[in-house]
Amino acid sequence: MDIEFVAASAAPPANSALARVVFEGVALEGAAAQAAAASRFTGAKGQTLDILAPAGVDAARLVLVGAGKPEAYDALGAEHAAASAYNAVKLSGLTTLRVELPNGGGVNAARAALGVRLAAYRFDKYRTKEAAEKKPSITRTQVATTNVDGAIADFAPLAALADAMSFTRDLVSEPPNVLYPVEYARRVKALESLGLEVEVLGEPEMLKLGMGSLLGVGQGSIRESQLVVMRWNGAADKAAQPIAFVGKGVCFDTGGISIKPADGMEDMKWDMAGSAAVVGLMHVLAGRKAKVNVVAIVGLVENMPDGAAYRPGDVLTSMSGQTIEVINTDAEGRLVLADAVWYCQDRFKPKFIVDLATLTGAIIVSLGHDLAGCFSNNDELAGNLIAASNTEGEPLWRMPLPAQYDKNIDSMIADMKNTGPRPGGSITAALFIQRFTNGVPWAHLDIAGTAWRKPSTNPTIPDGASGYGVRLLNRMVQEKYEG
Ligand code: BES
Ligand code: MN
Ligand code: ZN
Repeated sequence: MDIEFVAASAAPPANSALARVVFEGVALEGAAAQAAAASRFTGAKGQTLDILAPAGVDAARLVLVGAGKPEAYDALGAEHAAASAYNAVKLSGLTTLRVELPNGGGVNAARAALGVRLAAYRFDKYRTKEAAEKKPSITRTQVATTNVDGAIADFAPLAALADAMSFTRDLVSEPPNVLYPVEYARRVKALESLGLEVEVLGEPEMLKLGMGSLLGVGQGSIRESQLVVMRWNGAADKAAQPIAFVGKGVCFDTGGISIKPADGMEDMKWDMAGSAAVVGLMHVLAGRKAKVNVVAIVGLVENMPDGAAYRPGDVLTSMSGQTIEVINTDAEGRLVLADAVWYCQDRFKPKFIVDLATLTGAIIVSLGHDLAGCFSNNDELAGNLIAASNTEGEPLWRMPLPAQYDKNIDSMIADMKNTGPRPGGSITAALFIQRFTNGVPWAHLDIAGTAWRKPSTNPTIPDGASGYGVRLLNRMVQEKYEG
């Protein structure tokens, strides 16, 4: 998608769709008013009304886009309105979208452009027969603004964000026969071209480090497990204490010997979405040259049933030295995170660790698909994450870490077991990870419900991989930890 910012007075190109974003209750004029009256268009948030351009409008068609009440309209509103405009005309056959916003200053114009970039994301590399009329025709977007230079400047870091989110969405969308741990690690390694440092540890290196928990999960797969360490040292003091992010990267989760039912199992290709969000964060930090030192670690494995697979009843020894009795091989994400989180704090001594994981089905029962769960041993960190999540429209809800549930994962024969009772399953999973944080300030985001949206309820998220987490982490880093 080509993005341009143009003066509000410039006429739209002849073969374009003109999207006019309007507030709820504001009186329209002429043909637009007539069309609105004939179709229950009120300007409510998310409404669109697509009409043939009336006389006097220099475009092929006019789309009215509802922005809701003016009091509630902000940069996120501009973004969503522009995304809705794109979605309304993407298959029209026209090639240019022109967006006119009610408050078209630089910031809102830039955010509108972001909205279109995110909405226009597609994963179509494996389609060979799609009919031309089913393919989006809009290839260029012009956002009208009262401040062209301001919008261009504001859009630069947002373009980096859109690129990073596309990268994340691609990783999440890739089929599991293509994106197995070694291939995934290769794609991350290629990000060195952005200025990131990337180190890849294979099974021999992890064995030496004693990562019996992560390696246990991967031992039933013919694909080698990988641990990838990314570093971005953008702070003035390159040796300053870093902040850290860790991601669950289960490239496919069959459940292992505790095998999952066949129905919907294909969804488990995106059981690496936590890791992909962490990779996306590093992508955007490098892309916009963020002034901060960050470490990111992703544990990449495939959870398969096999003669060599780990079993329920096995006892694994983690890098921390703590032993884990496996009750259910489908509770594998926490086993991967146990070693990745321990290694992270042990080697890098970060200010804090935030982990992201599609960890439990139970979080979907608790919070549905719009909200992710936030578990944290630190109120300041949790507060920073939740504030950022609200600004970016990636909602997060604080969940508890009650000490009295911790005994639910005590084991008869080892230091702990990998599952507790079904009720409160997301909490037990978080308490399990907490045992590997060594007291470092930490937050765990369970994104099982938000990583994949079908149907999507957000105009900036096409059905499929959402890229959830990249924006909120990027925002938190920018506002709280860059200097
Ligand atoms: N990857 C799944 C969690 C998941 C479920 C993610 C649905 C996205 C959508 C995870 O590895 C898992 O299988 N969790 C089990 C844990 C249980 C065995 C304690 C679950 O949630 O059922
Ligand atoms: Mn599982
Ligand atoms: Zn899983």
